[in-house]
Order: sequence, then C-alpha cells, then structure tokens
Amino acid sequence: MEKLIIEGGRPLHGEVRISGAKNAALPLMAATLLAPGRHKLHNVPDLRDTRTFIRLLEHIGVKSERSGDLLILDSTELVDAEAPYSLVKTMRASVLVLGPLVARLGKARVSLPGGCAIGARPINFHIMGLERLGVTCRLEGGYVDAEIDGPLQGNVIYFDIPSVTGTENMLMAAVLAEGTTVIKNAAREPEIGNLIDMLRSMGARIEGRGSDKLIIHGVKKLNPADCAIIPDRIETGTYLIAIAATGGSGTVTHCNPSHLPSLLEKLRTAGLRVTEAANSISIDWPNHPKNSSVLRSVDIKTMPYPGYPTDLQAQFMALMALSSDLCVITETIFENRFMHVAELQRMGATIRIDGHSAVVSGRGMNGLCGAPVMATDLRASSSLVIAGLAASGRTEISRIYHLERGYENLVEKLSGLGAKVWKEQEE
Ligand code: EPZ
Repeated sequence: MEKLIIEGGRPLHGEVRISGAKNAALPLMAATLLAPGRHKLHNVPDLRDTRTFIRLLEHIGVKSERSGDLLILDSTELVDAEAPYSLVKTMRASVLVLGPLVARLGKARVSLPGGCAIGARPINFHIMGLERLGVTCRLEGGYVDAEIDGPLQGNVIYFDIPSVTGTENMLMAAVLAEGTTVIKNAAREPEIGNLIDMLRSMGARIEGRGSDKLIIHGVKKLNPADCAIIPDRIETGTYLIAIAATGGSGTVTHCNPSHLPSLLEKLRTAGLRVTEAANSISIDWPNHPKNSSVLRSVDIKTMPYPGYPTDLQAQFMALMALSSDLCVITETIFENRFMHVAELQRMGATIRIDGHSAVVSGRGMNGLCGAPVMATDLRASSSLVIAGLAASGRTEISRIYHLERGYENLVEKLSGLGAKVWKEQEE
C-alpha cells in the first residue's frame, strides 16, 4: 500500500482545475443501461470508483472505451443482471444498477452493500421504491433479487429521508414505467439535476428538476445519450478549504459556484474573501493570513442540499482547528462521520465529540503539527490532507486508497498549487 507524505506550512497559491463529479459520473454511467446503443459521457473523472463502476458494467455486458475524459459505453448486449458482492463491497454506489436493470430487463440481482466506515447505510428506501412500482424484491444470502413481469407501474413514492442514490435509482426505474410516477421528498443535489438532464436527452419526460417533487411520465423506449458530467462540487470545496487553511490565495477553475451556496457563505463568515465567476471561484485573505484572529470560528450543521454538504464536513473541521475560537460542527446525515477527529487530534487539534456534534477549539493558524495519521474513509482522508498542508513539519497519511476513490490527480493538483507532497510505499 502507498502513503502520502506532506511537508506542511507552505501557503498554496495559483490555479487548480476541477474534474467531473464522481457522484454524478456513477449514476449517469448506470443510466446507460436504460437504452441499448453507444452512449457518450464527457468530463468523466478517472478515479478508483469510476474504474470499479466500469468493471461492474462490463460484468453486466457493457463495452467501454475511454479517450481522455470521454467515456463511451455500449450497452447494446447485456449478458447478466447481477452486481456481485466482490464489486459492491468495494463501492456501495453499485446499488445504482438496480433501478436501470429492472427497468430494462425486468430483473436484477444486486448484493446488499453492507455498512461502511461512516454508517450502516441501508438501502431500504431503494427497495421500498421499487416495490411501490410493482417490483418483487427478495432479500436472500446478502443479495436483493428484484423481479417484475412486464413494465414497472407508475406510482407515488415518498422518501422519509431525501436519499440521493435512492432518488437516482427511482428516477432510472420510473422513466420506462407505464403511467406516471411521483417522487416526494426527493433529494435535490446537483448530481440529480445532471441525471435528469441526461435522461431527458435520452427521451425521458421528467418534471420538477431541482425541486423535492419529481414527476416522471413513463415512455416506451429511450435513446443513447451524449452528455457531460458536471464539475465535482466536493472536490471544488476541498481545494478552496485547503487554500484557505494554508493562508494562501488561488482560483479553482472549471467548477460551478452555484453548486456550493452554503460553503461559500461559511468561508466568507470565517473571514475569507471569496469571489465567484461563471466557472471559477477565487479565494484569498483580506488581511495577513498568519494573523490568527483573521480566521473566525464558524458553526456548521450538515443538511441535505442546498444545506451544508456532509461530504465537506471533515474538511471544514480541519479548517476550524486553525480558527481563533470555539465552534460546533453537527453531522445530521450519517451516524459515524467523525472518524477524522482522532487523527486531527494527533496533529494537535482540540476537538470534543458530543453525540452528533463536535466542539472544535481553534488553535490559531499555527495550531497544527505534522504527524503520522491514517485515512479511514474518502472525505476524512481529505481532511487529513488539508491539516497536513497547514501543519508545520511532516505528515504521513497511510491507506490513501481511500483518497484515490474520489480525487483525480491529487498529488499533481496540489503540487501545482505549490504544495510539497508525494507518495511512498508503506513499509
Ligand atoms: C450519496 O450517498 C453520496 N454518494 C454520498 O457521498 C453522500 O455523502 C450522500 O449521498 C449524502 O449526500 C453518492 O452519490 C455515490 P443517502 P447515499 O441515501 O445516496 C439514509 C462521498 O463521499 N438512508 O442520501 O448513499 C442513509 O443511511 C459519498 O462521495 C437510509 O436509511 O446517501 C443516510 O443516513 C459518501 N435508507 C441518509 O439516508 C436508504 O435506503 C442519506 O443517505 C438510503 C439512505
């Protein structure tokens, strides 16, 4: 396994280009199962998770070709309707093939994903939704066997919690159903808007884009897509926070500022100057970065979009460890998403967990020291990278395969901003 070495304490300066969104690429790749033919997806990031998803689609019979960030998926011949445990256990988003496979073939056998570091993460809403559309779902041996004779039947689906992949799965199941489906309390993340745009371009009839009520009028068939993945808003936020945490200044390009309403406001409240343009965001310090009174402590509470994103909670906590006062970070989406706290504490952060909240006592901009730490999940890992960039001395982050799931060309992008960072083999 590899580890990431960071010589911290160097302000980041310059430009960094954002890649396509992992959490849009995965559902859009799944949607290619809905229509036989050659689908073209542009701006697809080359990540561990997208490579795993391609392997899953190839297992099902899809042919893939990649040329740069263009991914061509030919789903003409499907030979299997199964997502095996061997693949699903490494990437829970594999559950996204459930809806399109049932819609296209009338059946699917998908391994239950099992829990992960941040929580139990069940898929009961996905199963409830399919059953509402007339699908029979049997849970046996760690798999869900879904089956229906003939087309799915439109119906009303209500989500207790606005599940992102749950909404995406139901959208993909309903577009070929007979009649109309209404999804109530649907998730509103930008990745869902990207999926709706793709499905509409394939011939789907969907109303309510961007709202929590989606209306899908089923159609008989769909055509192959040719569309682009939106920029990764979580990668965008991660680099903005990293630049701020190192007292630097820079511009994040090929991003969509409108997808980060909450984070940009929180950074401004913390004292950063944040300037938005059509496809870029610039960030810098209005006063001297090393004046720790500049970084104000700001509370955050994670919420479904457009609230503060849970996927940027760990990163913001690393920033708040450098602030000048106390703040409270509350995680409302997942039950165990504070795995980064113990590692940040090893670097000198003063954080106390109290149920779903973490109280962070900022130690000022020079408050962190480099240390050997361990990555536990994707976003916790990026929090440790940010802390390592801001800390004095050397930080070594082990198990960086977590990072490679969601950050394309991380070492190159950070080096381009002036960071001293490289990979080494773990002893
Ligand atoms: C998506 O996961 C993202 N993954 C996650 O990003 C993100 O953290 C999450 O949405 C929340 O924004 C992808 O899009 C591939 P949910 P998802 O269903 O869809 C509970 C990352 O770092 N729930 O919106 O799995 C669930 O346990 C990843 O890129 C049920 O109880 O999340 C959670 O508490 C991490 N039953 C809440 O709902 C269900 O059937 C929201 O989960 C489904 C979800």
